[in-house]
Amino acid sequence: MKFAGSHILSVSQFDREAIERVFSIANQMLPYAKRQKRTNVLEGAILGNLFFEPSTRTRVSFGSAFNLLGGDVRETTGMSNSALAKGESLYDTARVLSGYSDIIAMRHPASGSVAEFAEGSRVPVINGGDGANEHPTQALLDLYTIEKELTFHGSHIDGMHIAMIGDLKYGRTVHSLSKLLCLFKNIRFTLISPRELAMPQAVIDAIENAGHRYTITDQLEGHLDADICYQTRIQEERFPSQQEANLFRGKFRLNQDIYTKHFQSKTVIMHPLPRDSRAEANELDNDLNLNPNLAIFRQTDNGVLVRMALFALTLGVQDIIHKFDHPVHWHVRP
Ligand code: NCD
Repeated sequence: MKFAGSHILSVSQFDREAIERVFSIANQMLPYAKRQKRTNVLEGAILGNLFFEPSTRTRVSFGSAFNLLGGDVRETTGMSNSALAKGESLYDTARVLSGYSDIIAMRHPASGSVAEFAEGSRVPVINGGDGANEHPTQALLDLYTIEKELTFHGSHIDGMHIAMIGDLKYGRTVHSLSKLLCLFKNIRFTLISPRELAMPQAVIDAIENAGHRYTITDQLEGHLDADICYQTRIQEERFPSQQEANLFRGKFRLNQDIYTKHFQSKTVIMHPLPRDSRAEANELDNDLNLNPNLAIFRQTDNGVLVRMALFALTLGVQDIIHKFDHPVHWHVRP
């Protein structure tokens, strides 16, 4: 895979070698993210951060990752504040904004919109989530986290068992992660969701074609020897109505008791976040916060490393980052 100057729109662009390349650079980003040293390799470069859908960690971690490489960030949030609200096409918006940025990260509620935008862009575009379709950078940070967590437990991605729970229909993170896992061997998927929110057939087909095993169920029952439990939020913003979303809220909850009953004591708990902590949903209870296997905040930290690696690669500076190192003068957290 050629990174320099390329858009990152879908996980289908990646092969195992490309993933390893991203992860090896992500590993090298740790001292910068921990503020043990800083680099200004991207000094003068501008990231256009365009978020036309709510976002906290994706938007801010894209921005932080760019800042940590020494670049500047220009934010546009919300459809109503942009000319898209005046009927401007994605193509025109892309032509214009790519004249103001060296790279663009974009999130939009419509499937395929980021790819459409990229066609008009003169600079690389990174997909920060397009509707229910894809979220490639989240999938990469999830995979990076899975690899780190499993290595800690002495096991591997090849041969692992992953349980995905919740809204598998509208959740783009599970779509992208499942597709990325198709590059690995002999994975077992347990897909747990209300029948109406089952994993789309195209993703199931990909899992099947990769030779993986899978079980589809609408019950969390029995003891699952899963290595990873990937919990998700009901994607209420993609339902035809709130009443319909209400039918599914709180259907699959995970708390310490449920975890103990259905999972191994070493099962790693993941969630792309945000978790919906309102009482009627609460799919990932706060009583798991001190469980050492809760990896959700390791995921968010890893997101910065992976996004730094993607920026470095798409802007072609991955091999010279350390040449622009500087010491840090302020108190650094341990
Ligand atoms: C996810 C998303 O936006 O798809 N969040 C994220 O980017 N970390 C999942 C979600 O919103 O539930």
